[in-house]
Amino acid sequence: MISEISEKSLRNIIDDDVELFLFEEVDSTNDFAADLVKNKNIGTAVVIAKSQTSGRGTRGRSFYSPKGSGLYMSVKIDTDKFLNEIFPPTPAAAVSVIKSIKKSAGLLAGIKWVNDIQIEGKKVCGILAESKTDINTGMVTLIVGIGININTSFPEQLSDIASSLSDFTDTIDVNRLAGEIVNTLVRYVRNNRPDEYMDDYRKYCVTLGKQVKFRFNNETISGVAVDVTDGGHLVVDTKSGVFTVNSGDVTTVL
Ligand code: BTN
Repeated sequence: MISEISEKSLRNIIDDDVELFLFEEVDSTNDFAADLVKNKNIGTAVVIAKSQTSGRGTRGRSFYSPKGSGLYMSVKIDTDKFLNEIFPPTPAAAVSVIKSIKKSAGLLAGIKWVNDIQIEGKKVCGILAESKTDINTGMVTLIVGIGININTSFPEQLSDIASSLSDFTDTIDVNRLAGEIVNTLVRYVRNNRPDEYMDDYRKYCVTLGKQVKFRFNNETISGVAVDVTDGGHLVVDTKSGVFTVNSGDVTTVL
């Protein structure tokens, strides 16, 4: 059985100090959460929608968000820190998703560095982390968008690379999935301690040990991914030495 998203069930699971906004449809939960930042009366919050008309992915891509088949959510987390004091939230979000999928659907997923969650080599979830800085105080609010394919049917051209949790199990507690992600992620971000989740990130990261290609000084260099730093960078061992690269540099993860 795949449970329906319900305000009552979500409210039972999500920690009391996190506000909940639940919608049938929005343009993008990340955009809605970004608008909430202007309202100083709203603190840490989660925005959940059953569909999005303009779901956004990384690198300006769109995120396929059809009605009634996915979980589209953005967690808005206020911090009391400057941007350079905060560890990037994507690895924390990825580990939160992996643990919550295990608890709510009994599935073991993996992380394709840096922000894709996969099962059997197909993407079931993407993460889009953004930030807003208060111009008066310099304090940062993080907006971590997470889109999970629950029982999405994909068009032909996507079916080789994308999949849904329902392709691997009949039993998914969607409210528990969302609630556990929120609680775990908020805790990780507030604590701001990568030692709480980076060992798990490395353990679940399917990219480690694989051949990758990245751009450096207008050249394409290939090597083996050997580590992920606490800041979320990929460490690649190549013939020309060891490189630490960010997600924008990597062209192919094979
Ligand atoms: C990616 O895979 O490139 C990231 C996808 C992130 C999608 C989620 S769905 C909820 C939130 N709202 C958005 O517009 N995007 C994120």
